[in-house]
Amino acid sequence: KKIVILISGRGSNMQAVVEACVNQKWPAQIAAVISNKTDASGLEYAASKGIQTAVVVSKEFSQREAFDAALQQKIDEFSPDIVVLAGFMRILTPAFVKHYAGRMLNIHPSLLPSFVGLATHRQALDAGVKLHGATVHFVTAELDHGPIVAQAAVPVHNDDTENSLAQRVLEQEHIIYPRAVRQFVEGKISIVGNIVRFND
Ligand code: GRF
Repeated sequence: KKIVILISGRGSNMQAVVEACVNQKWPAQIAAVISNKTDASGLEYAASKGIQTAVVVSKEFSQREAFDAALQQKIDEFSPDIVVLAGFMRILTPAFVKHYAGRMLNIHPSLLPSFVGLATHRQALDAGVKLHGATVHFVTAELDHGPIVAQAAVPVHNDDTENSLAQRVLEQEHIIYPRAVRQFVEGKISIVGNIVRFND
């Protein structure tokens, strides 16, 4: 199976997926890591592992549709079986999402359906929730919705800041995201309506 990973920055989730793929000898390879920003630091890591990298610069496009079309063309050069969004900070057009329906995953730093969008750790602190976490889900046209593959919860402490909470959540992201991608490439996941089922 071929995996293409999209990033916008640091790429620590991408790194966790790459490491798991190699160390656990998945029946898959990372075909490419693609960024919408030239300065995404994760690109260096990917290149250092001998993975092909590419950049489609989003700020060079004034139309969202045009960027997504260019990105889709670049992604499809690698004919992926799965597209993994890892800190890819873009809202995607319906046509793009449809093209990868059932084969594009995202990780979101909250326990969905709570706290969609940005600043999820701030949202969690402001809401006073005592449990927070991360969610891996299939990407659908509606932002941060779509069938849920995996979740992990962490406690919220009295003295938490956005940063301390983000750190605790990120540790869990690095566990659940590689596991979910592995389940996908091993063919263990099917989507029934809006529900993910696991077959073994
Ligand atoms: C992660 O918290 C991810 O859930 C969110 O953005 C962050 C990206 O971190 N969408 P990284 O680039 O994977 O290190």
